[in-house]
Amino acid sequence: MSQNQFDKKSTAWSALFSEPMSDLVKRYTASVFFDKRLWQADIQGSLAHAEMLCHQKIISAEDHQAIQAGLRTIAADIEAGRFDWQLSLEDVHFNIEARLIAIIEASGGGDAGKRLHTGRSRNDQVATDVRLWLRGEIDLILGLLTELQKALLEVAEDNVDVILPGFTHLQVAQPISFGHHMLAYVEMFSRDGERMVDVRRRTNRLPLGAAALAGTSYPLDRERVATTLGMVDAQGQPQVCQNSLDAVSDRDFAIEFTAAASLCMVHISRFSEELILWMSQNFGFIQIADRFTTGSSIMPQKKNPDVPELARGKTGRVVGHLMGLITLMKGQPLAYNKDNQEDKEPLFDTVDTLKDTLRIFAEMVGGQLNPESGVKEGGITVHPEAMTRAAHKGYATATDLADYLVKKGLPFRDAHETVAHAVKAAISHECDLSELPLNVLQEFNPSIEKDVYDVLILRGSLNARDILGGTAPTQVRLQIERHQARLTRQ
Ligand code: ARG
Repeated sequence: MSQNQFDKKSTAWSALFSEPMSDLVKRYTASVFFDKRLWQADIQGSLAHAEMLCHQKIISAEDHQAIQAGLRTIAADIEAGRFDWQLSLEDVHFNIEARLIAIIEASGGGDAGKRLHTGRSRNDQVATDVRLWLRGEIDLILGLLTELQKALLEVAEDNVDVILPGFTHLQVAQPISFGHHMLAYVEMFSRDGERMVDVRRRTNRLPLGAAALAGTSYPLDRERVATTLGMVDAQGQPQVCQNSLDAVSDRDFAIEFTAAASLCMVHISRFSEELILWMSQNFGFIQIADRFTTGSSIMPQKKNPDVPELARGKTGRVVGHLMGLITLMKGQPLAYNKDNQEDKEPLFDTVDTLKDTLRIFAEMVGGQLNPESGVKEGGITVHPEAMTRAAHKGYATATDLADYLVKKGLPFRDAHETVAHAVKAAISHECDLSELPLNVLQEFNPSIEKDVYDVLILRGSLNARDILGGTAPTQVRLQIERHQARLTRQ
């Protein structure tokens, strides 16, 4: 065997090398075990590239046909689990290309397989694959975000009039509607959706045609490929990366996606923290269905909120991936560097974690459809009495008393001070503000009249916040309608 003949079949660039790659280096540099996940995007990209090569008369119609048929056979084989992925072929791109060449040769189609890579490099190929794959995943994530928002809206709708204490500093602050509280998360997840739509727009641009880094001398029609791949804007105009160096080297779309995913997980994590608190014995506000909890191996009474706890934990993992990806990019000179192969595992894991989390939360919050009864079952159970009881503690209507005095003509600062005295008195009487007799209240300010009790009760406090974005049930109902209309439009 001549010096250059080693391992010829199993690598695509061996002729130059005087010794084979060591097994350790093969394992270290290979990505096929994780990037084989991109196979559909890889084949989709190759089909579009081959079609364009034929259209531009760079390859013949026969070669195009052979490539098409070969790629379809490969797709079917991978789908059926019949494809033999080889570590020595490094990555998903080389594995598929090598198989294509072999299939076509074996079927008498000559060297058509070897022509597919004309005007293309793995650098623009991989950037295209990741973008195509991520675009599909973003679409799935958008659907899951909608499902979660719908589940939260259902809970909001059922609990507009349920009062719980709103907290600041985790100290009782003011009474709020539980529906209003749920809608706060609907807002967050709707912004997460907006961010995903925005990231999708920048992800959906075509690197192919950039070749290794400088573009190519073949008369490729990049816009044709973009259109074939659905990389178009809202008006149907093809979206093509405009600088070849940038096209192959930047992964900012992946970083942006992971940043959007991190924020979404942070929202999930805050919600998790609340669910965990609310279902603790000290709050007793809600229960989540047993199938989302686990028991203890030693304490027989325990039902632990594992799902929200894990979601809170997995948020750290996704934020970690964001740090990983952004750090991966920071020292890289233009254009492509192998560092970029490291973009995949964090990106894949971010997508998997986010999708699983959104799916499980939609079900945990909203329940599951019972096909027999046609109703959803097993969502969160709300305990309104416990919430109202808690809202009665902590002088949640103190601000309402101050506002009442302002309406009587007192400056707010003086009213604030007056109410502080009233709260102090209520604490020493061990009662709520609404339980102080009128004559006692009048000692703090003589303008206080009987109607003060309307504002001191929780419902009065709630109804008073009848302002856009406020917690008054009329406002909450308007917001629910707005969100419902928005989500049905999507
Ligand atoms: N597996 C590689 C990656 O994920 C494909 C691109 C390889 N390009 C190269 N010049 N070695 O980035």
